[in-house]
Amino acid sequence: MTANRTKIIGLPEIKLVDQYKRRLNYLRISVTDRCNMKCMYCMTHEKTSKLPCREILRYEEVLRIARIFINLGVSKIRITGGEPLVRNGICDFLSGLSSLEGLSDLSITTNGVFLKENIEKIKSAGIRRLNISLDTLDKDKFKRITGIDAFNQVWDSIMLALDMGFDPIKINVVALNGINDDELPDLARLSLSYPFHVRFIEYMPIGTSRIISSQMRSRQLLAPEIQDRVSSIGRLEPVENMSFDGPAKRFRFENAKGEIGFIRPISDHFCGSCNRLRLTASGNLKTCLLSDIETDLKSPLREGCSDSELADIILKAVYDKPFEHPLVANHAGMISGCMSAIGG
Ligand code: 5AD
Ligand code: SF4
Repeated sequence: MTANRTKIIGLPEIKLVDQYKRRLNYLRISVTDRCNMKCMYCMTHEKTSKLPCREILRYEEVLRIARIFINLGVSKIRITGGEPLVRNGICDFLSGLSSLEGLSDLSITTNGVFLKENIEKIKSAGIRRLNISLDTLDKDKFKRITGIDAFNQVWDSIMLALDMGFDPIKINVVALNGINDDELPDLARLSLSYPFHVRFIEYMPIGTSRIISSQMRSRQLLAPEIQDRVSSIGRLEPVENMSFDGPAKRFRFENAKGEIGFIRPISDHFCGSCNRLRLTASGNLKTCLLSDIETDLKSPLREGCSDSELADIILKAVYDKPFEHPLVANHAGMISGCMSAIGG
């Protein structure tokens, strides 16, 4: 029945279905574990050794895997890192990816520092949707959070992206008690003057980031509280979620040009409707961000597996996707691994 309906409206059949009947049509691909920033909630900077080059999938390997996923029904791909724009040749790779038949949505998540110098090529590659991290509007605090003095560069990149017609531009804000909680209303106000989607993200205890240990509990701000603080500047009207929208709970202030979103992996996890898969920089398939289970795709690929053999490995891993993750509110758990290699 469902398969017939998808055929009628011209979408590829989604073969990526897990045992709980979730349909996985969204793939996030991390192209590098490296980053030019050291965000305090991310552990990129703490790793003593980066993945050696041979462990990272080559672009042609990523393209091959992406093509297999698309044939299995993935229609939406987001490129992440680390910071994707630190990897050489990224723009040509994006062009190659965007020319794959069957892909209806290609986007990128970046910290914005190298966006300006790449933006023309990114646009030529057919990308229109950008997610940019910006946790503060204060230059000094930006340096404190990210470890580098690049607020102006990032802000200029955001403005340039706006001028060049990227849409939507999503601004990712990880809300942290005692760090940027005083600025949440100001960050939300951006959506009044600009058509940005400002998305407040609950901090997830992944890896061993700078703030994770004893301070972790006190830093974490959950969505209801974030929403309370943001509501101090006006009434938030709910915006209906489309099927392609992802997990953000969306709102808009009256007469605002943009939107506000809350991403609540902890307080109201969206596992039941999760449509996401992740390919790590080292070529592992992660069917759940917050689970340690990974399936190695790089070894079979390099050992000469055919596309259909790789597809079978992928289908099996997807079928076994965990039902939900353990990091719900009041759970003291922590997930190992590294956001920068998994790709957020
Ligand atoms: N918790 C929540 N969000 C995080 N990000 C990175 N690390 C974490 C974390 N521990 C977000 C950043 C970035 C995106 C790639 O992931 O805001 O925008
Ligand atoms: Fe880099 Fe993104 Fe991690 Fe910040 S959150 S250190 S920008 S990978």
